[in-house]
Amino acid sequence: MKRGENWGAFVFPKWTNLLRPVLAATLVLVPAYVVVLLAYGASPRTTNVGYRPVQPVPYSHALHAGQLGIDCRYCHNTVEVAAHAALPPTQTCMNCHARIRSTSPKLLVVRESYATGLPIPWVRVHDLPDYVYFNHSAHVRRGVGCVECHGRVDTMDVVTQVHRLSMGWCLDCHRHPEPHLRPPDMVTKMDWVAPEDPDVYGKTLRQANNINPPTDCWTCHR
Ligand code: HEC
Ligand code: HEC
Ligand code: HEC
Ligand code: HEC
Ligand code: HEC
Repeated sequence: MKRGENWGAFVFPKWTNLLRPVLAATLVLVPAYVVVLLAYGASPRTTNVGYRPVQPVPYSHALHAGQLGIDCRYCHNTVEVAAHAALPPTQTCMNCHARIRSTSPKLLVVRESYATGLPIPWVRVHDLPDYVYFNHSAHVRRGVGCVECHGRVDTMDVVTQVHRLSMGWCLDCHRHPEPHLRPPDMVTKMDWVAPEDPDVYGKTLRQANNINPPTDCWTCHR
């Protein structure tokens, strides 16, 4: 280093001047990002573990999916082929309730809906922000069971959110999916357990079916 030159020029050679706008932009953008994080990232809508809204009909999964053993796909019949898992139309309920408990006051809203043709106003439990893309079929067909994300719905009288639907939660599994994989024909079997260490068993499934959950931003923000 020559006399007269300052240490700054030594530590930050001239070309770093080009980076100045970038550094300035970063200093501005970092707090902006933190604001976004606080506004959306921590929004109660997605982090609502334990959320269980009161539904217009006291319909119980513990009774129908648990005790009676009706398969999830009988009612949520698009879950393997579409992004969204459809809720059943009133007709599906009436397949049984035209005869079973046909005068029960608990089924009044169901009978009214059937008579008027207006859908039952079910209240949504899980709800990602609109800027996130999620797809059921991409998971279910690759062997990620309902229970991995929704918990033991077959024991719930009222459906309750059991996981924070945060970006970190999605990414944890995308980076290390092994212990969450099962044969695709077992996805609705809520009490299924891996025949050996889930990590080892999942590794075999992952290789056999070439499962590689993407982690690039475009996967979930498109
Ligand atoms: C596997 C899915 C997935 C991937 C991949 C993903 N995100 Fe997200 N991201 C989410 C979800 C879900 C949320 C909503 C989180 C919430 O509301 O708590 C989110 C929220 C966000 C937010 C809002 C603030 C926050 O942190 O909650 C930003 C910004 C964001 N993502 C940026 C990115 C960037 C940049 C990448 C790529 C490096 C990326 N995401 C990759 C699922 C994903
Ligand atoms: C007889 C029909 C029926 C069967 C069988 C059924 N469900 Fe449902 N499911 C419904 C109805 C109706 C709702 C909307 C009311 C509610 O949330 O309880 C619903 C809601 C849900 C929700 C919450 C949706 C939201 O708003 O976020 C999840 C998750 C769910 N079901 C998962 C399952 C799983 C997993 C199974 C199999 C173990 C299953 N369901 C079996 C009828 C059914
Ligand atoms: C990888 C995680 C994951 C798996 C596996 C999964 N779900 Fe979901 N489910 C979600 C998320 C996240 C939402 C909220 C989606 C949104 O807000 O767009 C959701 C929403 C739902 C809904 C409300 C309607 C909708 O699509 O938004 C129903 C019903 C449902 N799931 C049923 C099921 C059933 C039945 C299975 C198994 C056959 C299943 N889910 C498997 C994560 C999952
Ligand atoms: C496969 C047949 C079947 C289907 C489909 C079905 N249920 Fe049921 N449901 C039953 C049976 C069986 C009972 C228990 C009757 C008893 O306790 O004697 C029952 C009980 C009920 C009860 C309690 C009634 C009372 O008086 O205690 C409600 C509420 C109910 N179902 C709502 C629904 C709704 C809403 C749907 C559509 C989303 C639906 N059920 C679909 C068979 C069915
Ligand atoms: C329990 C594990 C698990 C969780 C939780 C999970 N995923 Fe996935 N995801 C997977 C697996 C496994 C695949 C399939 C990868 C493959 O087909 O190679 C996948 C695939 C996807 C795909 C399709 C990618 C493509 O282009 O093929 C999207 C989109 C996606 N996940 C979004 C999400 C979002 C958003 C969340 C959180 C709300 C989430 N996932 C949570 C395991 C998970």
